[in-house]
Amino acid sequence: MERPFPTVAVVGLGTMGAGVAVAVARSGRRVIGVEAGPTRAVRALARIEASTARAVARGRLTAEERTALLALIEVGDDLAAAAQADLVIEEVPEDLELKRGLFAELDRICPPETLLATGTTALSVTRIAAATARPERVLGVHFFNPVHSMKLVEVVRTVLTSPQAAEQVAELARDLGKEPVAAGDRAGFIANGLLFAYLNQAAAMFESRYATREDIDAAMRLGCGLPMGPLALLDLIGVDTARTVLEAMYEQSKDRLHAPAPILGQLVAAGLLGRKSGRGFYTYEAPGSSTPVAEEAAAAEARPAGREVRSVGVCGSGTMATGIVEVFAKAGLPVLLAARSQEKAERAKAQLAKSLERSVAKGRLTEQARDAALALVTPTGGYQDLADVDLVVEAVAEDLAVKRELFTALDRIVKPGAVLATTTSSLPVISCATATSRPQDVIGMHFFNPAPAMKLVEVVSTVLTAEDVTATVLELCAKVRKHPVECGDRAGFIVNALLFPYLNDAVRMLAEHYATVDDIDTAMKLGCGYPMGPFELLDVVGLDVSLTIEKVLHQEFREPGLAAAPLLEHLVAAGCLGRKTGRGFRDHARR
Ligand SMILES: NC(=O)c1ccc[n+]([C@@H]2O[C@H](COP(=O)([O-])OP(=O)(O)OC[C@H]3O[C@@H](n4cnc5c(N)ncnc54)[C@H](O)[C@@H]3O)[C@@H](O)[C@H]2O)c1
Repeated sequence: MERPFPTVAVVGLGTMGAGVAVAVARSGRRVIGVEAGPTRAVRALARIEASTARAVARGRLTAEERTALLALIEVGDDLAAAAQADLVIEEVPEDLELKRGLFAELDRICPPETLLATGTTALSVTRIAAATARPERVLGVHFFNPVHSMKLVEVVRTVLTSPQAAEQVAELARDLGKEPVAAGDRAGFIANGLLFAYLNQAAAMFESRYATREDIDAAMRLGCGLPMGPLALLDLIGVDTARTVLEAMYEQSKDRLHAPAPILGQLVAAGLLGRKSGRGFYTYEAPGSSTPVAEEAAAAEARPAGREVRSVGVCGSGTMATGIVEVFAKAGLPVLLAARSQEKAERAKAQLAKSLERSVAKGRLTEQARDAALALVTPTGGYQDLADVDLVVEAVAEDLAVKRELFTALDRIVKPGAVLATTTSSLPVISCATATSRPQDVIGMHFFNPAPAMKLVEVVSTVLTAEDVTATVLELCAKVRKHPVECGDRAGFIVNALLFPYLNDAVRMLAEHYATVDDIDTAMKLGCGYPMGPFELLDVVGLDVSLTIEKVLHQEFREPGLAAAPLLEHLVAAGCLGRKTGRGFRDHARR
């Protein structure tokens, strides 16, 4: 294909427009920049000069490249100059009437073959196109901020946009070194459509005081590997912007999960818009600063000291149990590894030995530390040996009847005053607690897989858990170098309650043929910096496991938007469970 669009006009040279102008000029194209009025035009050019000078200072651009690209950019305040362009990209503020007026004007000024693209985030491209007499040549081109480093570009077609126009713009994006994905005209498109629903749930979770802002953010960073926690991200994006995007999403979807959480409105009304105003969910050193200031700890919560933990027991012989044993043993705690038979316990210890061996091979553990850890682990085939341990973590099958039976047995066996913990990810901790005569000593300790590597532990207190039991587990987490977050005993705790509705939204987006598996995964990785796309993650976690968690969440909250996507149920029914069966949302080579 011929190199498309030798001349590109960019209207509005603010945050996004200036970035787009530079990216386009870098590809050797001529750029006609248009601002509103002579003063703004001068300021816009100065901004472009300054940002490219910074790029040179940081080694992202050579001085020669900068000179060459600046020579290709002209900036003025006369929209008529856009008539010389093959493509016009509009990047003015997010205001429908402003954009519609501009498009009507551009339609009059530009030759009929010129393509007109809007940079809108959440407005209807279709309504903007309707202001022109050439809707087949109008589309959305959604870059991400900062344009120079974010690779994603969503190319948005309305029902009237010609496929060739979209393909040409995608080609331009590739030529700028970006990765274009195809999206239809829907508020938020792919990346923001999935991201903002999740941010909204996190804001609502904070508002309901289910967990602190620090714990919600740490949970999502450490439990899912996200680059930022949701509340810190809302502060970065701007609480006002987030609310506007969510309003637009709700307007279209009428899904209550998109209705902006009331706290967002309150923050906006109070002028607490996030980093830009120096305060949002967090308080920052100054407006525009990215450094949050520590706020006074809420009256230094008078929590009692924890109980002493000198030895621990772990029940189970699977992946989680073995991983948890490794965590404790590496921290120097004697561990009883209790399984249903001596043989199973011995096998689990052998697994552990292999895992430690791998760490030695990778240079992460000394041979001495390996031997010391192994020497601390005693495998046993009988739970009666747990009588004297100070804390037990149960990691047996995710089945309430099995767990309750085990807790009843532990209640009979383990000494009074010991802490009894479950690592369940989807069952109510209180149902384990009530299987004992000492529910005050029962708590959730939700480790993540693989336990030795994942820093996060969700510490789940029920309505009956004693405060010193919670304190014991928090202290223990610190001792074994895990990061604890505290939450209550409701479905999904923090991480799964925020993660799985997002994964479910992605499945629904796919089922509606809004975007492809690859485009959705790419959008989340490149647009939001996620380590994996939603379909990659679903295939790793297992579609059956995901479906179970989604059903538990739906049953707990009865929110229609949380109902598991029928496509997920179909795939599970068909035996397509992800990597483990060789087929899920993608085909995988069987191992
Ligand atoms: N900032 C982001 O993170 C981001 C990311 C993706 C998309 N967007 C979208 O990109 C678009 C631009 O956003 P922004 O953040 O760059 O806004 P901005 O406020 O930084 O810049 C807008 C610029 O448009 C100029 N302008 C206003 N009216 C004009 C007119 N009639 N003609 C020419 N110029 C005019 C303003 O002077 C200003 O320089 C919006 O639709 C926004 O939703 C923003």
